[in-house]
Amino acid sequence: MSGIEKVLQFLDEAKTYYLATTDGDQPRVRPFGTALVHDGKLYIQTGKVKEVSKQLAKNPKAEICAFHGGKWLRLSGELVDDDDRAARVAMLEKLPSLKAMYDPDDGNMQTLYFKDAKATISSFTAAPETIEF
Ligand SMILES: Cc1cc2nc3c(=O)[nH]c(=O)nc-3n(C[C@H](O)[C@H](O)[C@H](O)COP(=O)(O)O)c2cc1C
Repeated sequence: MSGIEKVLQFLDEAKTYYLATTDGDQPRVRPFGTALVHDGKLYIQTGKVKEVSKQLAKNPKAEICAFHGGKWLRLSGELVDDDDRAARVAMLEKLPSLKAMYDPDDGNMQTLYFKDAKATISSFTAAPETIEF
């Protein structure tokens, strides 16, 4: 399994991760669940109307933390706003429950992918594993 697939599997199994952004000098964090590998990139999904989207437009640096099976994942990088319609369609195909809130052409649905991503999977019992993509 490639590094990016390993990170995706961790996020999928954890189901919920926490996405941190910056709002000026104030950190902001909230639960997220969307994750998809499409075209070799790790995407997340949000709505352009949300504060999180506005914060990322100003400062794309972001960090994710998830905990699952005694291990925790920390993933940092830049979230690139990608207007690729195929990515939005693929996200809705993977997570059909999103269709109640989003449509690929609603002008609100947004997918962003991680650039210069560095992930670390840690536990109390083993050496940390670093994955970059
Ligand atoms: C378990 C869980 C998963 C969520 N996943 C997402 C998600 O993937 N994308 C999203 O935009 N909002 C998601 N939300 C909702 C956001 O956490 C919520 O809209 C949050 O307020 C957005 O951050 P903001 O207020 O800073 O914009 C999720 C909420 C929960 C409880």
